[in-house]
Amino acid sequence: MCGIVGYAGNAQAAPILLDGLSKLEYRGYDSAGVCLYSEGTLKVAKAKGRLMNLSNMIDGGNAVSGTIGIGHTRWATHGAPSDVNSHPHMADGGKIVVVHNGIIENYLQLKERLIKAGKSFQSETDTEVVANLVEFYYEDSHDFLTAVRQAISRIEGSYALGLLCVDQPDTLIAVKKDSPLIFGFGSDGNFIASDVPAILSYTREVSYLNDGDMVVFTKNSYRFYNAAGDEIEKTPEHITWEIDAAEKGGYEHFMLKEINEQPKALRDTISPRIKGGEVVLDDIKLTADYLKGLKRIYVVACGSAYYVGCVGKYILEKTCRIPVEPILASEFRYANPILGEDTLVLIISQSGETADTKSALMEAKAQGSRTLAIVNVVGSAIAKAADDVIYTWAGPEIAVATTKAYSTQLSVIYLLAMYIARQLGTVEQEEYAQVLRALEELPEQVMKILAPENIEQIQYYASRCFSHKDAFFIGRNVDSAVGLEGSLKLKEIAYVHSEAYAAGELKHGPISLIEDGTLVVALATVPELFDKTMSNIKEVRARGANVLALTLDCFDEEIHKTVERAMLVPQTHLLLQPSLTVVPLQIFSYYVAVMRGCDVDKPRNLAKSVTVE
Ligand code: G6P
Repeated sequence: MCGIVGYAGNAQAAPILLDGLSKLEYRGYDSAGVCLYSEGTLKVAKAKGRLMNLSNMIDGGNAVSGTIGIGHTRWATHGAPSDVNSHPHMADGGKIVVVHNGIIENYLQLKERLIKAGKSFQSETDTEVVANLVEFYYEDSHDFLTAVRQAISRIEGSYALGLLCVDQPDTLIAVKKDSPLIFGFGSDGNFIASDVPAILSYTREVSYLNDGDMVVFTKNSYRFYNAAGDEIEKTPEHITWEIDAAEKGGYEHFMLKEINEQPKALRDTISPRIKGGEVVLDDIKLTADYLKGLKRIYVVACGSAYYVGCVGKYILEKTCRIPVEPILASEFRYANPILGEDTLVLIISQSGETADTKSALMEAKAQGSRTLAIVNVVGSAIAKAADDVIYTWAGPEIAVATTKAYSTQLSVIYLLAMYIARQLGTVEQEEYAQVLRALEELPEQVMKILAPENIEQIQYYASRCFSHKDAFFIGRNVDSAVGLEGSLKLKEIAYVHSEAYAAGELKHGPISLIEDGTLVVALATVPELFDKTMSNIKEVRARGANVLALTLDCFDEEIHKTVERAMLVPQTHLLLQPSLTVVPLQIFSYYVAVMRGCDVDKPRNLAKSVTVE
């Protein structure tokens, strides 16, 4: 959600900025722009729509010369996507230009005052207020850094900002609070960006800015300051992963690549944490005494990460015998949750930057609960703020719709469940050993589901279903929770109206919507509930539903007595089954989306990292 790139160096800046912005497209955006210091002025070029529009406008960067600049991809919050609302925003007097990720909450009050002070505004954005506010102070002090500091002290809300000043053509200032920003130490210039892929072709030495941090830099110098204005040291972190990890590597879409990366992501996440027949979570400090005192666990997250929590409830309650409540991060703070020392708050987030999730974490901490975060992005805000962190080692996830992050988050839930249950003595040694063995076999089993003949079959089913306007996912127990994720996938990337229900609830309402040809994806992977789900399948079939089933391969014969089309998955330990069930659902949605001609990796209106509430 909004991407920032900035560069000060010896090379031409515009192509670097465009390239960097292209690597941030995954964050979701609806317009893009750049500003360069060029021939004595600040030149802004911006355009609504895809980055290609901007690139064409400035001839791939060749039409604007200059070796220092800032770029931005905007995901509209204040004001519709349009050329004029796109960033960068120039202050009224042309002295200051700004790119911004976040929301300035008091922008209306500030805008009113600035208008009274004689400033005029072109856009509907909150960001233009920042440009004018900095310029307002600059007119007084004629000192760029002082003006930025003064403006920041007046701003409420979240921001990552990149700023240029026409009178200081070699200097870029960046500052952040509650929105991500990194600094890149280059050999031929320095960078800022919202995320590593934007600058990875140019440098591997980066530093994650903390809230309140500011950096003032030129092509060959940098100074970091903390929120108090004191100069601080920042040591570069070396990025070890390859740019390939953030590129498509021969796949048609990032989503398909990431689906296929799941065996590796699972192995990387699970293997280092099982040693000598024990779950080893060195990184966390939950003692047996603390765990014994727990009355409840909240699982707080958004989107697919929340649906991991819905599966997690079954797993954690079954093995640890502690009540578990998954709760949407956007609801958490306003639901008056029961917090305190006897409540553990488990936060799940791929990006580690989701605004609602982060706020929920802060609330939980403020009210005295211990927080444990499952996060994919090292050094992200949530990873830094939580009391304990368990990283998913999924690597960078680029497609907006998550796949490998979901799978690895779920695998961490199993590890955590076994870790807690072991300390509480709520799991028998035999089951503990079985779960651990099954966990170690999981990557291999996912690999089997990804075999070309399986994928082709699912692709065929997608070809029979892609024209449906509505879909219903049904299932019992963990299948009802996995159905939520399957349904979300279809909705978000294929734009098919889709709902997920516990199969037992059908008769309490949803069945009234089943008519001739309605698509019902029926999950029946829980052996003891197979017959019950079959009854539900028969009920919807009797009303004309077109059923696509998903079950264990051992039920192949049985399921085909009732339905024509069934996706099959290998059987694993009952607790771990959701990790296999979700994979065909991802593949199915992927192909439905492709067949419907959708922009799979960048679905309309959605963002990868939702950094505003
Ligand atoms: C967005 C993404 C989802 C993701 C959710 C939560 O909606 O499109 O894929 O599940 O945000 O993001 P997080 O980074 O906190 O896991």
